[in-house]
Amino acid sequence: MTDARRYSAVAMTLHWLIAAMLIANVGLGWVGGDMEGGEQKIQLMQLHKTMGISILLLSLARLAWRLTHRPPVMNSHLKAWEKALAHIVHWGFYVVMIGLPLSGWAMTSASPVIKIYPISFWGLFDWPAIGFISDLPRDQAKSIGQAFGLGHDVLAKALVYVLFPLHVLGALKHQFLDKDGELGRIIPFLPPPKA
Ligand code: HEM
Repeated sequence: MTDARRYSAVAMTLHWLIAAMLIANVGLGWVGGDMEGGEQKIQLMQLHKTMGISILLLSLARLAWRLTHRPPVMNSHLKAWEKALAHIVHWGFYVVMIGLPLSGWAMTSASPVIKIYPISFWGLFDWPAIGFISDLPRDQAKSIGQAFGLGHDVLAKALVYVLFPLHVLGALKHQFLDKDGELGRIIPFLPPPKA
């Protein structure tokens, strides 16, 4: 059954799946990034990369869904600044959900390590390097890799310190201060929001 006040089952599933994987991958990136090297780091970073590529594919699916479907209508009582902020945060998430794995893929493609340890997609097949980056002369690949590494770090920080807190605080404000039931738009077992 469809309800114009809430997201569809597909959109809800993708939302929670991507959210859980993003949180897990930030953890893996931080822990793996701090490790000195060795087999454990390689295993952890392989998991980070394969999860990151999966986030990229799921996010592209979510974006395709978003561009072809109307999201549920927002509550009419929302102030203009609340609607504007919600839109900025939502589209900010798409930038990060796609830009973060792309920058990680580009950084990894620029590294000579990929020739020894290709990105294994959940052990099923080798995910390719970005050819025009991995084919660059060593010194160019190194500086490109550093630039994408910086981008990766900045996007991860934007996710953790800006987007995620704004998104969660906004949701909690609606649920517990405004009591307008907005969380029912995206949590399947809650009642739909008031019109
Ligand atoms: C949305 C998915 C992803 C998230 C949330 C994420 C998050 C992070 C974070 C928080 C770090 C540590 C901060 C830093 O040093 O930059 C990191 C590092 C890293 N990530 Fe990702 N990442 C994602 C996707 C990817 C992908 C797809 C790849 C490669 C295919 C990748 C490769 C790396 C590498 C090589 C590092 C550096 C590790 C080191 O310092 O040794 N990441 N990532």
